[in-house]
Amino acid sequence: MRIARSVAIIVVAVGGLAVGVGCAGGGPATPSDPVLAQGQQIYTARCASCHGVSGGGGIGPALAGRMTERFPDVADQIALLTNGVPGTSMRAFDEVLSAAEIDAVVRYTRESLVGS
Ligand code: HEC
Repeated sequence: MRIARSVAIIVVAVGGLAVGVGCAGGGPATPSDPVLAQGQQIYTARCASCHGVSGGGGIGPALAGRMTERFPDVADQIALLTNGVPGTSMRAFDEVLSAAEIDAVVRYTRESLVGS
């Protein structure tokens, strides 16, 4: 009984630490959905430099809070990422990301980068 309780406390402590580390970059907390968490990793590595860690924009336009309105059909947003926007610094991501990775990062921008 006592052992079980100590284990529970350790699990909670480690979990809290992981959340703390996730927040250390100053961006949004890590989503609990594994696909969204993968999307966040891809976003941080490949998109945040132009669109901002929280999607507030920079070299590229702000994404946070406007993706579902801008792309009512998710297929249009997937196509934009797949093909890029020719003539701009928005490259085609089909060369570096798999279709599943593109789906994950698209879901992340639609469901997690909702702005403040
Ligand atoms: C090197 C800079 C750069 C990187 C890296 C980049 N983008 Fe972009 N992105 C842009 C620019 C610039 C535009 C605007 C293109 C235009 O003029 O239509 C854009 C446009 C977009 C748009 C369309 C926005 C709209 O309202 O029309 C989306 C969605 C988008 N980017 C998502 C992403 C995602 C997701 C990633 C990472 C996988 C990413 N971008 C990486 C620069 C970048």
